[in-house]
Amino acid sequence: MAAGGLAKMTVVSIGAFLVGIGIPYLSSLPSPKLASFIGDFPVPDYPLAFPFLKNRTESAANTPFVCDTMHSYRTELVSLDPLIIYIHDLITPIEIASLLETAEPRFAPSQVTKHGRQQQTSDRTSSSAGLPRDDPTVVCVLNRARNFMGTMLRDGWDEMGPPQLVRYTSGQRFNVHHDWFDYPQWAADGERKWNRVASFFAILQDNCTGGETHFPHARPIAPPSPRGEAAWQGGRQTQTRSQQQQQEEDDEKAKPLWREHENGGLAFRPVAGNAIFWINLHNNGTGDWRTVHAGLPLERGLKTAMNIWPRHYYPYE
Ligand SMILES: *[C@@H]1O[C@H](CO)[C@@H](O)[C@H](O)[C@H]1NC(C)=O
Ligand SMILES: *[C@@H]1O[C@H](CO)[C@@H](O)[C@H](O)[C@H]1NC(C)=O
Ligand SMILES: *[C@@H]1O[C@H](CO)[C@@H](O)[C@H](O)[C@H]1NC(C)=O
Repeated sequence: MAAGGLAKMTVVSIGAFLVGIGIPYLSSLPSPKLASFIGDFPVPDYPLAFPFLKNRTESAANTPFVCDTMHSYRTELVSLDPLIIYIHDLITPIEIASLLETAEPRFAPSQVTKHGRQQQTSDRTSSSAGLPRDDPTVVCVLNRARNFMGTMLRDGWDEMGPPQLVRYTSGQRFNVHHDWFDYPQWAADGERKWNRVASFFAILQDNCTGGETHFPHARPIAPPSPRGEAAWQGGRQTQTRSQQQQQEEDDEKAKPLWREHENGGLAFRPVAGNAIFWINLHNNGTGDWRTVHAGLPLERGLKTAMNIWPRHYYPYE
């Protein structure tokens, strides 16, 4: 393992120690337009955990996970203001299987933070699972996401935050909400505050119809709809195979990954491995209302996604 990788891992581990469990901060003013956003799922902390020195859980022990630090993904700009980027193949099938195995016993009814309290609500009917931050696959995926953000996160100061999985089944949904907090939250060190500067929403299981992620106020950069999964080939026609199955696969890949929704905004269909990334906060630290979004109801099937919420930290004044 490269020294750089070790250094990053150490940063993540120290961060886990500093941040601790996000404790909901009492915000007395309910937001004017929306009632809910996602609170942090309580996850046990393992201060100074060092993933490669610890034994994995027994169920995963027979398939040791090796992080592919060279894994490549592909990005597409969707919206410039607010910034929304579509990421193809952010999470590999092996990583998905490992994350699901780790999370499976932890799923519980999702909660949202309303008026400063964590509670269950009809606004959100899914189930959620916190992920342990010392799990090698979690570390691997968080490092990749952290590297994606580049200098937007300050090493040794900002943090990736505890990730969580969310699962929707037939009829389940998450009404319009925002991921940022109305007011920065106290950090566990009692000296700093933080807010969710950006969000990654990565799909792990997409065996469903419906269940798009809808950003009612997002605008595409240009009106023509996207080209689906197939990357631009410079105009070359590469399709010579005539087999029906190949055709069906190509048709599936050619389906647009997002569309302009009939009620306005953009709707992204769930595709396993792919992620949406967006910036939640303005430069002055306030939330960007244009990033509110909803998980549209599933008609049938199953959708599982991973939430990653990178945090900006602020010194308390
Ligand atoms: C890790 O696993 C090895 C072999 O299975 C075992 O000998 C060792 O005691 C374990 N260490 C811990 C800290 O559980
Ligand atoms: C923060 O910045 C946004 C975008 O520039 C602006 O709309 C908002 O009024 C600002 N809020 C404060 C409190 O400065
Ligand atoms: C996908 O879900 C449908 C039910 O909606 C089920 O019949 C099918 O077996 C599932 N496929 C997989 C691969 O899980």
